[in-house]
Amino acid sequence: MAMSGAPSGQQSTGTKFAEGWYMVCWSADLGPRAVMPLRYFARDFVLFRGETGKPTLLDAHCPHLGAHLGYGGCVEGDDIVCPFHAWRFSSEGRCVDVPYASRIPPRAALRSYPVAEHSEMILAYIGPEGSSPRYEVPPIEELDDPAWTSLERAEITIATQPREVIENVADKAHFRQVHNQTIDQFEMIIDGPRATQRTIGRGGTLDGKPISVETVATYHGPAVQFTHLMWAYDMVLINAHVPIDEENLILRFGVMLYTGEGVELDRNVILTHMAAARDGYFQDVAIWEHKRWRDKPLLADGDGPIGEIRKWYQSFFA
Ligand code: FES
Ligand SMILES: [Fe+2]
Repeated sequence: MAMSGAPSGQQSTGTKFAEGWYMVCWSADLGPRAVMPLRYFARDFVLFRGETGKPTLLDAHCPHLGAHLGYGGCVEGDDIVCPFHAWRFSSEGRCVDVPYASRIPPRAALRSYPVAEHSEMILAYIGPEGSSPRYEVPPIEELDDPAWTSLERAEITIATQPREVIENVADKAHFRQVHNQTIDQFEMIIDGPRATQRTIGRGGTLDGKPISVETVATYHGPAVQFTHLMWAYDMVLINAHVPIDEENLILRFGVMLYTGEGVELDRNVILTHMAAARDGYFQDVAIWEHKRWRDKPLLADGDGPIGEIRKWYQSFFA
């Protein structure tokens, strides 16, 4: 998104990030009436949960004298009150009260971002000022199904750029080397804001016995991916990244496992398989942290559709 050209007094970085829905935190990490400072996209935000439970994301710095609302701001109703002189802002970012003044300055407002909450995630739509969402991230239905375990969550900060994470979708040739998996069928399907990778192949169980592995992994926009993994167990994986700045991002990972309704699986078995699914993904991370981006990679036949996924990702830049 083009962040340059912001009105004076607002944040302007001149950096560019893909427009779309980003996961800004796990639902569980924003308690009732909680206020959280966030730094993403090389900008400062305040995220808070109103008294009705509604999450709101605003630019962080008060238009009055510039206090950061994420440090000491208080929730009242679904509004937030600045810690410095108590100006009060609604979830739309409008200033609705200046307690000591007879009149609210007409331009007193903070930029507010579209927010959605489902599937244990708080998502925010980040794009050029005034933009509204071009697509939605669907909820994960398995989360309400008693035949599935609850979601195990992990998160890490990585020194890399989103385009490295995205490119994984098209990278057919790394499975054998990085994940010890043979790929028999590989397909990438681009459908507007969604990019899906399907693989059918062979891997091993945790004991190393050969077993078939199938995945259907869909990016809903540039940053939120849901994967169905059919391995020793059926699993659903969440993989969502959000840039902190142009060189670092936070990657959040969630995994749940199908046990069958009323089936009691050993908790250790569940946790070991979930950890293995997570660690499989983190095998890629170890490469990303030290690799160098090649604008013009030298490709061989047998490589996946790297050019196509790059073009798709580019479509999120205005
Ligand atoms: S700086 Fe926020 S009310 Fe003064
Ligand atoms: Fe991978």
